Amino acid sequence: MADGIEQKSSNQMWGGRFASGPSAIMEEINASIGFDKKLYAQDIRGSIAHATMLAAKAIISDEDKDKIIHGLNTILSEIEAGTFEFSRKLEDIHMNIEARLADLIGPAAGRLHTARSRNDQVALDFRLWVKEELQKTEGMLTALITAFLDRAQEHADTVMPGFTHLQTAQPVTFGHHCMAYVEMFGRDRARVRHAIEHMDESPIGAAALAGTGYPIDRHMTANALGFREPTRNSIDTVSDRDFALEFLSIASICATHLSRLAEEIVIWSTPQFGFIRLSDAFSTGSSIMPQKKNPDAAELVRAKTGRINGSLIALLTIMKGLPLAYSKDMQEDKEQVFDSAESLELAIAAMTGMIRDLEVRVDKMRDAAGSGYSTATDLADWLVREAGLPFRDAHHATGHAVALAEKKGCDLADLSLEELQAINPAITAGIFDVLSVEASVASRTSFGGTAPSEVRKQIAWWRTKN
Ligand code: ARG
Repeated sequence: MADGIEQKSSNQMWGGRFASGPSAIMEEINASIGFDKKLYAQDIRGSIAHATMLAAKAIISDEDKDKIIHGLNTILSEIEAGTFEFSRKLEDIHMNIEARLADLIGPAAGRLHTARSRNDQVALDFRLWVKEELQKTEGMLTALITAFLDRAQEHADTVMPGFTHLQTAQPVTFGHHCMAYVEMFGRDRARVRHAIEHMDESPIGAAALAGTGYPIDRHMTANALGFREPTRNSIDTVSDRDFALEFLSIASICATHLSRLAEEIVIWSTPQFGFIRLSDAFSTGSSIMPQKKNPDAAELVRAKTGRINGSLIALLTIMKGLPLAYSKDMQEDKEQVFDSAESLELAIAAMTGMIRDLEVRVDKMRDAAGSGYSTATDLADWLVREAGLPFRDAHHATGHAVALAEKKGCDLADLSLEELQAINPAITAGIFDVLSVEASVASRTSFGGTAPSEVRKQIAWWRTKN
């Protein structure tokens, strides 16, 4: 009776959704099959390697091993054909597959889990998944870098304003600007490669946390699964999610780069800037204002960064309070990584498409490059070089020239020789050679500078790395 009363009042509080009581709530909070079914291929691959090793070490018979592998391959086809029935009652991908294996091959299925726990099994599956995702990311970044290298080559001589504080600073080339992104995505790719190397250790065989008394061969499974070596500490192995955190931090940094680029695309494609025109494929019209072409893809890339950064913070927070070794909290690692991986892939793909397709408006860039007294530094440098002025004095004199041009509403190059000489008598007609934006960029030949000759060297260097 007491039970009945409690059940009734509890139900009122929980509401209709959990009408069947605590067991339904437990099932819902506990189950991960809704998302970890994504790991089916890795789980099956891991189980085949494990069963093969168990037989090689005479822990199970060859006959059972053959049955297990045959059953696992059948399950793989069932899942791929969409005929496999996932059950939430069976909690996760590991138990769903094992239960089906028992249906298919009977008692031999029970031998697969010898010398293994779901703790090392999930660590293995997830690590394999993240490693493959990183390999995919590496290829996608290479495609993005290639798109930038091609545009940089095409526009090594295209002059545009370079900005600091989003105020016109000095003329640069569009090629040079593109190459800045090559550097950024090149670093992302290096981080990806490093992370792959870092996580290249096999968790399987750590068992629940303490290892096992069965005479397993962890080097054999590591080798079969394409890992460099097995992990060295079984406690760390089942409690470690650094590989997922590294994936998310790399994704966050890369998404931050993508977001800055997206922001520039948004700004550059406004009529006010007009530096680029996005292809129709990566923009949309407005339902009310017929003149508009909106950079939606860039805006969404910018927004995806929020999700990805959020996932990094979520997993850091999940992990920060966990005592060693495994805790169920860690089940919450997957959705963060899966969601970020999907967002990052989409963002890189969209950006690669946008960069390949965008129309560069060379005239608009050039006009803007000459405005805002962008060659003022060149004037000051000329005074230092040709008239022997200390840089600070040259800076001061140039300030006067800018003020005069501003008052007259013209560019520096439009001031007359007399006007310039009134500011500093050492000025000669030679000054006009450095006041053009082309002369300005051509002069910046320091290593890594914006001169077209320098930018071409950087492109050639990157081509050998790509
Ligand atoms: N579904 C679990 C996860 O994703 C698998 C590991 C469960 N281990 C355990 N001891 N209950 O973390």
